[in-house]
Amino acid sequence: MMGQTPQQVIDGQRQDWNRVAGGWEKWDRFFDEQMAFLNHRLVADARLRAGMHTLDLGSGTGYPALLGAQTVGPSGSMTGLDLAEQMLAVARRKATALKLANVTFRTGDVTALPFETASFDAVTSRFCLMFLPDIPKAAAEIARVLKPGGWIAAAVWSAPDKNPSIGLSMEAIRKVVELPPPDPTAPGIFRLAQPGDLAGMLQQAGLADVTDQEFFAEWSYASAEEYYTSLMEIAAPVQNLMAKLLDTQKQEVKRLITQAATQYRRGNCITFPIAVRMVAARKPL
Ligand SMILES: C[S@@+](CC[C@H](N)C(=O)[O-])C[C@H]1O[C@@H](n2cnc3c(N)ncnc32)[C@H](O)[C@@H]1O
Repeated sequence: MMGQTPQQVIDGQRQDWNRVAGGWEKWDRFFDEQMAFLNHRLVADARLRAGMHTLDLGSGTGYPALLGAQTVGPSGSMTGLDLAEQMLAVARRKATALKLANVTFRTGDVTALPFETASFDAVTSRFCLMFLPDIPKAAAEIARVLKPGGWIAAAVWSAPDKNPSIGLSMEAIRKVVELPPPDPTAPGIFRLAQPGDLAGMLQQAGLADVTDQEFFAEWSYASAEEYYTSLMEIAAPVQNLMAKLLDTQKQEVKRLITQAATQYRRGNCITFPIAVRMVAARKPL
């Protein structure tokens, strides 16, 4: 990512997430069953209520936009925004299956929101903001489109050592091929992992009553093999690194990843701890 212009980062993101949209649809039920609590937490932190007009940033295949749409009900609305049309196509199919008529998914960039000032009662976002090339700019955009008194609630990944299911794949790749040391300021999975990172940017953008909390949970896979397969099919940043490897190196990475994953065997499953940073803030009245 180092040395890329903001536009190159955005184009890369669009390409990456469009590429893995099929994987996200395939694994949708599995991840939804394991991660739905995060949608509920975001909907609560953003104080969604019936009748509100709300925005979800980087909705991907519809999280937490679909729960948000159910919460604000037919007298409210939810707009889900994402760069990747293929991810949104999955989200639209789910909205149709759920018979939700108050949700609209549209393409757009979080760092240049295509909305009027003060047009939303609340904003949510799950696992998107750390991928942006200019997060302070996005924070300013969020502050702009919120109505006074409205809340933003966002979930981002906490540190890699607390998220071994993500961190161990990167470590395995590093053992097989030399990679430049991770640039903590470049867009990526752990860009907003540190306490105060996102909270500080929201504060700088003029938002108040900021909270920043690490939220611990776990997720389970039936086997190390299942974990490896899902990782390769949904994790765009991991796929990008794998694409640079020779076949023999890929085999070695697979061996290292599945071996490391078996350390997390509990009973019949592989169960990983996860740590998510939940940040919320409010636009002053
Ligand atoms: C890890 S996925 C999360 C999707 C969904 N929120 C969830 O939690 O399942 C990250 C999403 O952020 C989107 N994204 C990345 N950069 C973006 C940007 N600048 N503007 C809008 N969406 C962006 C990607 O296209 C992708 O769908």
